[in-house]
Amino acid sequence: MTNNRAAITGIHAYVPDYILTNKKLETLVNTTDEWITTRTGIKERHILKRKGLGTSDMAVKAAEGLFKKTKANPDDIDIVICATVTPDMQFPATANIISDKLYLKNAFSFDINAACSGFIYGLTMASKFIEAGTYKKILVFGADKMSSIIDYTDRTTCIIFGDAAGVVLLEPTENGCGIMDSILRTDGSGRVYLHQKAGGSVKPASHETVNAREHFVYQEGKTVYKFAVSNMADISIEIMKKNKLTTDDIVWLVPHQANLRIIEATARRIGFNKNKVMINIQRYGNTTNGTIPLCLWEWEDKLKTGDNIILSTFGSGFTWGAIYLKWAYDTNDNPL
Ligand code: UT7
Repeated sequence: MTNNRAAITGIHAYVPDYILTNKKLETLVNTTDEWITTRTGIKERHILKRKGLGTSDMAVKAAEGLFKKTKANPDDIDIVICATVTPDMQFPATANIISDKLYLKNAFSFDINAACSGFIYGLTMASKFIEAGTYKKILVFGADKMSSIIDYTDRTTCIIFGDAAGVVLLEPTENGCGIMDSILRTDGSGRVYLHQKAGGSVKPASHETVNAREHFVYQEGKTVYKFAVSNMADISIEIMKKNKLTTDDIVWLVPHQANLRIIEATARRIGFNKNKVMINIQRYGNTTNGTIPLCLWEWEDKLKTGDNIILSTFGSGFTWGAIYLKWAYDTNDNPL
C-alpha cells in the first residue's frame, strides 16, 4: 500500500438535447404535471432520441468534455469503469465500447451493474486500485439511457426516468483530500420490487416476453420508496459516525435523485438543512447511474478544496451505500 488517496480531479457530464416535459407526458399517459410535480418533484427529463445511439455515446460526450477540461492524456488512462443498467448490448461491456470510441490504447475496462448505486460502487473500486499504487488514472462513468427500458404506456415509471452520463477522473493525491471512506451494502431479496423481468438467462427474449412488455422497468414504487429513505439516511449517518463527523462538518450531501420527497425525507432523517443538499431532479428526473456525477458536475464551481461531502445512494438489487470524500480542488486551480 502507498500513502496515496484517490481523488476526483475532474468531472464532466452530458445530457441529450431533447427535453421530455410533464406537459408532453400528459399527452402520452393518464397523468398531470401537478401529480408528477407534487409526487416526485420532476418537471422534465432529457431523452436520447436519435436512433442508433446508446449509453456509450452519451458517455463518450461526457469524457470528451472531461479530457478538454483536465488536459488529461487519453494514452495515460489505466482503467475505464462504466456503471450502467442499460449497456449498449448484453456483451461486451459498454466500458470496452467507450474505450474504443475514445481511442484509449492502454486501458482495461469493465462494467458494474449495481443499479442506482453503481457509480459509488465503481468509485470505491477505483479508489482501491489507486490506494494500492497499482494504477494512477481511472475513468469512472455513471451512464444510463433509461428511455431504452422504459414503457411509455406505464404512468407509474415513465414519468420518473431520464437519460444522462457523467464521468470522473480519479488520480492519486497527497494533499489529504480524496475518497476518505466508503460503505456499500446489498440485499438481493429486494430484487422482487424493482427489476426487468425478461431478457436475462432465466427468461430470454421471445415473442411472448415482448408482447407481455417484460423488457421494461418493473417497480413497486411504495416499497422501494420506504427502503430508499431509511437505507440512504441510515448509511449516511453510519459513515458520518464512523468518521466522527456531524452534519455541521459536512458541506454537501449528494443523494441519489430518485424522488424529491425521498431526498427531503432522507435529509430530514439525517438532520441536514435542505440548502446543504444537492438537488437537480426537477430538470433531469432519475438518471440511475447518472444522478451523482450530474450533481457534482453542476455544483463543481461551488466546491472548494477540503469540502467534506457525503454521497449516498439506493437502488435496485437492493443496493445502497455512502462515500465520504474531501473535495480535492478548486475549479480554477486544479492542483494536478
Ligand atoms: O432509483 C431507484 C429507486 N426508485 C425509487 O426510489 C422510486 C421510489 N418510489 C417513488 O418514487 C414513488 O413511489 C412513485 C413516484 C413511483 C409513486 O408515488 P407514490 O406517491 O408512491 O404513488 P402511489 O404508487 O402510491 O400511487 C398513488 C396513486 C395511485 O392511484 P390509486 O391507486 O390511489 O387510485 C396510482 O395509480 O397515484 C396513481 N398514479 C398516478 N397518477 C397520476 C401512479 N402514477 C401516476 C401518474 N399520474 N404518473
